[in-house]
Amino acid sequence: MSYNLILLGPPGAGKGTQAKVLTERFGIPQISTGDILRAAVKDQTPFGVRAKAFMDQGALVPDDLVIDIIRERLSMADSAHGFILDGFPRTVAQADVLSKMLSDNGKSIDHVISITVDNDELIQRVIGRLTCKGCGRGYHLKFDLPAVEGKCNVCGADLYQRDDDKEETMRARLVAYASQTAPLIEYYTKLGLVRPVDGLGAIQEISNTLIRVVEG
Ligand code: AP5
Ligand code: MG
Repeated sequence: MSYNLILLGPPGAGKGTQAKVLTERFGIPQISTGDILRAAVKDQTPFGVRAKAFMDQGALVPDDLVIDIIRERLSMADSAHGFILDGFPRTVAQADVLSKMLSDNGKSIDHVISITVDNDELIQRVIGRLTCKGCGRGYHLKFDLPAVEGKCNVCGADLYQRDDDKEETMRARLVAYASQTAPLIEYYTKLGLVRPVDGLGAIQEISNTLIRVVEG
């Protein structure tokens, strides 16, 4: 089966963690705008330099930049038979463009998985997170340690702390989520697409719930 999925949720909800499980399970790519932006920042492209100023403040990158990324990414062959959008859309304007982009290609979204976690837990998760420089997998100093200290279990690359994972920046990201992204829950509820999932609990249990939700 091919599925066109959106993972919606605040920073630290587990979008990236669960997207990687769903990718394995369903053989469809994870498309993370955050990962694509971080790669551009690392390569110091003009686009990355522009995006970094927003990311470092915990603010959203302007819609036009992110929409260009997604347009290009969704036109690649590997997303022809399903995809997992992780961190996109994040504004109503992005959601409107996505829906037009998909309908122009005879496609639509199957499920919008809305993961909820309270803010105190989100802050604990993000400030303790380590991220793989190679594949982007997230780890956690308390909840999800790598087998070898400082190294990714999957690809062996070094782990690092994201620049925007400082507590102050995380608080700004939560504000941006509440004001600009949370309205998408109502937007997609009206379209009958939202599948709410409690993001609190063991990572594996949440994965099992998500798989059940997707498979219906
Ligand atoms: P992005 O990279 O998308 O970050 P985010 O949405 O803030 O979300 P995170 O990646 O922090 O969290 P996550 O939900 O993936 O959680 P994870 O699985 O890692 O965006 C970064 C920035 O880029 C934005 O601020 C913005 O500037 C820009 N940007 C990106 N997309 C954009 C867009 N569309 N428009 C405009 N700007 C955009 O888990 C977090 C931690 O918790 C990990 O350590 C993990 O091990 C742990 N964990 C996961 N699940 C559990 C669990 N069940 N129990 C305990 N610990 C857990
Ligand atoms: Mg993520």
